[in-house]
Amino acid sequence: MRALNVSAAGEQPAISELPVPEPGDGVVLIRVKAAGLNAIDNAIAVGMMAQMMPHEYPLVLGRDAAGVVEAVGAGVDGVAVGDEVFGHVLLAPPIQNGTLAEYALLPAASVAHKPAGLDFVTAAAIPLAGAAALAAVEAVDPQPGQTVLIVGASGGVGSYAVQLAKARGATVVATGTAADADRLTTLGASSVIDFTTESVADQVAAAYPDGVDALIDLVSYAPATVLTGVVRKGGKVASTLGAADEQTLAGAGLTGGNIMAGPVREVIVPLAEQAAAGNLKVDVTTVLPLEQAADGLATIAAGKASGKIVITVSE
Ligand SMILES: NC(=O)c1ccc[n+]([C@@H]2O[C@H](COP(=O)([O-])OP(=O)(O)OC[C@H]3O[C@@H](n4cnc5c(N)ncnc54)[C@H](OP(=O)(O)O)[C@@H]3O)[C@@H](O)[C@H]2O)c1
Repeated sequence: MRALNVSAAGEQPAISELPVPEPGDGVVLIRVKAAGLNAIDNAIAVGMMAQMMPHEYPLVLGRDAAGVVEAVGAGVDGVAVGDEVFGHVLLAPPIQNGTLAEYALLPAASVAHKPAGLDFVTAAAIPLAGAAALAAVEAVDPQPGQTVLIVGASGGVGSYAVQLAKARGATVVATGTAADADRLTTLGASSVIDFTTESVADQVAAAYPDGVDALIDLVSYAPATVLTGVVRKGGKVASTLGAADEQTLAGAGLTGGNIMAGPVREVIVPLAEQAAAGNLKVDVTTVLPLEQAADGLATIAAGKASGKIVITVSE
């Protein structure tokens, strides 16, 4: 099968022929139709997670996918050969299987039937970013009428988080470039703060002198860059990047912490059902063939993904 893979640690990702993998216990083999890209694909490609988990090579990139069940391992129930499904390769040692390939192994726990109303590209854009957005919004638990600042709102996670926070009745303040403002407003942002012109903190403080009720930070890697100063005392903060240090938050009179997405069946099915019902927009802004998957990953690495990038693998 053709697969975008890293042949050995330190090598650049390239497309080459690899054997079709065989599903073990509790694992589903799918023929991939579409694979959604995520920032973690780049982290895995360069070995950033090698300290956390063993990697085995050749290592196929990609975590999200939608396709058709080709075979199931022992103990898999709920899906059968020929079913149209979507899902995620959960992080588990060793890191080796991926979805940017003609066939992919997914743990049954994160494989679900694709709603008939969703095409494969749309379904493939949901699992990781949708689950991360849901976890972040649940962590700050916005109440109707409260204001949530989402820093990094323009990316894959942010595009879902804006909608999920808005659906809870919150007023959403989103960061994004001027060129992206209309898209973010359509998704549910009440106002869009351009992070490329002047300080986000100054702009938020000017608009909300008493502070916002909650902050979802999707871009900071360190506590020092989390904009805790614009959140009112007693407010909540969530980070997808481990930047919400609880001691720092407590010192500022805030609560919250770091979230981990859990893109298992119970989480991704309701998101897909909302999307199929038209209540959650899956904002796929770029669709590329497998041959250009590395270009899509480079766009994410450059911080230039607006919405989701999805790779089509087969018809
Ligand atoms: N903890 C978890 O379980 C989990 C799960 C999923 C993702 N994540 C992490 O969460 C982060 C966001 O994921 P993603 O998929 O949304 O990434 P993404 O699609 O690459 O989006 C990031 C967005 O941030 C924007 N941005 C860049 N610099 C910014 C700044 N200084 N201020 C405000 N916005 C800025 C970019 O906007 P422009 O396009 O306008 O430049 C880009 O669209 C990633 O780092 C990812 O690794 C964690």
